[in-house]
This record gives sequence, structure tokens and C-alpha cells, in this order.
Amino acid sequence: MSKTVGIGVTGGIAAYKIAELVSKLKKDDIDVIVMMTQSATKFITPLTFKTLSDREVITDLWQESHEWKVQHIGVAEQLDLLVIAPATANMIAKMAHGIADDLISTVVLANTAPVLVVPAMNSNMYKNPVVQDNIVKLSRYAYEIMEPADGVLACGSIGPGRLPEVDAIYQKIMRMLNPKQDLRGKRLMVNAGTTCEDIDPVRFIANRSTGKMGYVIAEEAVSRGADVILVSGRSSLTPPAGVEHISAWGAEEMCEIMLKYQPACDIIIGAAAVGDFKIAQVAEQKIKKMANKSDTLMIELVGTPDILRTLGEAKKPGQIMVGFAAETQDLIENAKKKLESKNLDFIVANDVTQEGAGFAADTNIVTIIHRKGESRAFPKMTKKDVAASIIDSVVDLLN
Ligand code: C5P
Repeated sequence: MSKTVGIGVTGGIAAYKIAELVSKLKKDDIDVIVMMTQSATKFITPLTFKTLSDREVITDLWQESHEWKVQHIGVAEQLDLLVIAPATANMIAKMAHGIADDLISTVVLANTAPVLVVPAMNSNMYKNPVVQDNIVKLSRYAYEIMEPADGVLACGSIGPGRLPEVDAIYQKIMRMLNPKQDLRGKRLMVNAGTTCEDIDPVRFIANRSTGKMGYVIAEEAVSRGADVILVSGRSSLTPPAGVEHISAWGAEEMCEIMLKYQPACDIIIGAAAVGDFKIAQVAEQKIKKMANKSDTLMIELVGTPDILRTLGEAKKPGQIMVGFAAETQDLIENAKKKLESKNLDFIVANDVTQEGAGFAADTNIVTIIHRKGESRAFPKMTKKDVAASIIDSVVDLLN
């Protein structure tokens, strides 16, 4: 059955590029309902979209409709996917706060289909912390967000904020409309977050990992049909629906859990930031504060198990193992060494010193390096898209 996509065009200069998107979707027999804000109509006429979509374009909450249903409810009920492109800072703010004071923001609230948001705006506006906070908020509500492209903007400034290529938006829409089920019947275990090593009953050593990368891998794998075990160290994130979530505190505990489940797994991905040291002798009682600021306290550290290496040694034939290499120098060289020493099929290398890569960020810049030698460098992508690329590489290996 043909699918219906709603496209909310808001008032940015990139609005004219959506004409090409509508035309591409129509060629695939997708029914497109275009909605426009008043500002969007200043950049491109509703007539253009009407001609391309072969449908009435809705520009007003109070527009007369020949159906008996209230316009926004009627539209929302028909959608398989809602796309907001270009999404202005204003529309993003309204969506993040549940404001429904125009057609598109009202349809957003009445809609139950997946939503794709494609921000495009001046780079200073895009980088504004308020806008960034609103975008993070939307991603927490499970909205898919596309990263804007970098470059010269219509306003003359240079930086992030350009609408991504129409083809990239089209591909993303097609993926969201036809979710792959290429991991059906496979069991995947991924670890995430930071491990913690006790110093005494109240203190511990951990690291900056938030768990984002591992959690989105779990989410992507489950959406593609896998049975997923998420072994998580400390993280404040909510485990994605449908995954088996097991908490682990220290590296040793995490290693034991993973060794136990390893034989039943087809795919193992190590996205956790496993601590490399633990306290040699954990104090039984809380260590007392020092009498003077200048006093010193010695804590002896010993190593922790390398979980992936341990699992790599027990790897069963056909099992796929993937690791991460977060580096600050000699990225590719160091990643290749880890690939070998941990007996991995491929490694996801990222230079954590780059802006938009690494721990707490929502984006990452990675290179996937395969055992057999080939490697592929990706541009800056959301961690969700990185997860999709990792799973694509796993599926390639399975086939
Ligand atoms: O050796 P390094 O810590 O840089 O390797 C990173 C990769 O190895 C990550 O995939 C991480 O999850 C995994 N790792 C592990 N056990 C450790 C340290 C890292 O499984 N003790």
C-alpha cells in the first residue's frame, strides 16, 4: 500500500529545496501532504507544492477542508511519517515545548507517526545553546533529527546550518518508511556507559562516558529485529524499549555478565568505556578526610580485565565482534592495533579531540576499519546514524 508522508515546510530560505524532495517522493508513488507556515509561503508558493504533490497544500489551521474531520486531526491520522523540513529555530522551539499555535505545530502534537526534523538556519542561530537544548529535547522525545550540513549559508555566514542534500533527506525518509528487519533472529549484546571502581563504600572512579553510543546501538539493533542484551555500566539514560537491560558496576562484573551471555550471541559490540584500573584494596569504611589540605593520600591501582580481549579469546566461529577506539593521537594506527589484539571483525575509530565527536556529544565522527583491511571514513553524523552505519556493516559481514 502506498505510504503517506506529511511535510511541514517552515520559513527558511531552504524551503525551495523541498520542492525537489516532494517531486522525488511522488516519483516513488508516495502520497505527500505539504503543509506550510505563513513565513514559508514568502519563500516558495503553495502552488509549486500543489503542482508537485498533486494535492491541496495546507497553509492555515482554519482552512476549509472537504472532509468532515477537523483539519489538523484529519491530516495527522493519515500520516506514516511526518517530516519538518526545513525546521526553523522557531518551529523547533514550539515543538520542544508543546506549543500548538499554527497548523504545523498542531499537527505535530496530534501526530502519532514517527517524526523527522531537518533543522536549517543561520549557523549562529543553530549553535545558540537555546536552540541546541531544544534539539536535544526533541531527540529525547524520540524525534529523528538530521544534522545540518556545513558550508556557506544563504545569509553569507559559514558554518553548520545548511539543509542537508535533498538526496540524504530522501534516503533517510525511505529508511524510516521501510524499517529494515535485517537482524531478525540474531542475538546482539552491546555494552555501554562507564564502569565504576569503588574506592570505599561511598566513593568510586568512573569516566566521562554517558552511554549514548551504546544505547543508540541497542535501539537501532532492536528496531532492525535483533534480540538485544544491553549490559550497561553507570548511565543516566533510559534503556530503549524492547531490550534486555542488565546493569553492571565494575569492569569485572561487566566481564562476567558478558562471558555468561557470549555463547548465545551472534554479535557483540563493545561501546562501553571500561575503566582500565581498579583500587587494589577497597576500604571497608569511608576514608576519613585529611587533617590538612596539604596531606596526601595514596591509592594503589591495579588493572581490570580487558573485556573485549577476554571475549575475543573465547570467540566462537561466525560470531561478529566490534569494538570502539577513542583516540587522541595516531587514530588509525592505534585502532588497527586494538582490532588485532582484541580479535575484532571491525573497529569504530574516533578522534575524541575533534569537535562534535566523543563522549557527551550527540554526534560523532568515525572511521570503520575492517579486519580485512578496508576502511571507511564517515562525515559528522548523529550517534543514531553512526549506530545505523555500524549495524549496516555488521549485516554486510553476516551476509
Ligand atoms: O584498549 P582500549 O580501551 O582503548 O579499547 C577500546 C575498546 O575496548 C572499546 O570497545 C571498549 O569497550 C573495549 N574495552 C574493554 N575492556 C577494557 C577496556 C576497553 O572491553 N578493559
